[in-house]
Amino acid sequence: MIALEKTALRFDALGVSAPADIAAVFAELRAAASAESAQIRGTDSLESFRVKWLGRRDGICSRITENWLKPAPPEFKKSIGAGLNELRSALEGTIESAKSSVADLSSGPGIDLSLPGVERPVGTHHLIRQTYEEVERIFLSLGFSVVEGPEIETPYYNFEALNIPEFHPARDNMDTFYIEGSGGHLLRTHTSPMQIRTMEKQAPPVRIVVPGKVYRRDNPDATHTYMFHQIEGLAVDNDITFCDFRGTVEHFVREFLGPKVKTRLRPSYFPFTEPSAEVDASCHICGGSGCRTCKHSGWIEMFGAGMVNPAVYGFVNYDPKRLSGFAFGMGVDRLAMLRYGMTDLQVLFQNDVRFLRQFP
Ligand code: DAH
Repeated sequence: MIALEKTALRFDALGVSAPADIAAVFAELRAAASAESAQIRGTDSLESFRVKWLGRRDGICSRITENWLKPAPPEFKKSIGAGLNELRSALEGTIESAKSSVADLSSGPGIDLSLPGVERPVGTHHLIRQTYEEVERIFLSLGFSVVEGPEIETPYYNFEALNIPEFHPARDNMDTFYIEGSGGHLLRTHTSPMQIRTMEKQAPPVRIVVPGKVYRRDNPDATHTYMFHQIEGLAVDNDITFCDFRGTVEHFVREFLGPKVKTRLRPSYFPFTEPSAEVDASCHICGGSGCRTCKHSGWIEMFGAGMVNPAVYGFVNYDPKRLSGFAFGMGVDRLAMLRYGMTDLQVLFQNDVRFLRQFP
């Protein structure tokens, strides 16, 4: 490192007598610079290397200019200038290539940690799912549990065991999709088959709700789709009365539409319930005085229900003399429409985000 120390000396103290000596000194300096550059390990050591050799104020090249080049006699200036230029360009080359290998080392695959993060839009549950969850919440709080079943059914579960024998007119109303080549399988037309599947497997007491998709050969319009959503309910035990049925229904309707809403039962017919009822709620929009939602009747038809027909117990080996219960089947799309005063069912299936965003 003799040459390095010499750079602090003025030219007249350098003790050189020929341009060849100057070339030798610069060769020594280039060797020193190259040995030092091999030690560069990161941006910090690269910067100290640069300052040490090329720094404007006290860098080695500046010192050579000040101490050697400027005070040198004219016959030496040329060789000092040449040596200095060669040293500078060697240093610049070294620094450039060190820069790229240092960048490789320190920033790995090029992650810029200062960039702001990518914002990911967070989705929400669809209105149908939200409605399911609300209905489930109400019945879970009453001790019901949630079960699900197959969408492809056999005529036995979808009809027969629900007391809808072949050639029964109720089968026509259902507009069933049969699956070709399946040996008679069909897309379930309601969630009621899960009443049978549950009672087959489980001894009483039973308290279940069954959310799920159902299918019917309907032409799509404002109130019909060929796939829609139901939630079935079933409670069977030793001593369930019509009062339990009525009380449960009333509690549900008030929880779902609001505490002021009244309930009424209208006689109806379903093969799997006896007696059967349509559950009506007093209109939660106008309070019963009449409006568009209730078609000026003050009442809204909510869902079908009734006491389980004893004939059904026969299909699942339940004792009709000892057991009683009630059942209901709600259209979830309809419930959602009622609750939010919607007039067109199709918007539930189009998934237009401008609609969906209204139900965060
Ligand atoms: N399964 C009937 C339908 O889809 C709805 C229904 C009515 C279900 C009365 C029930 C019930 O469990 O008791 O039209």
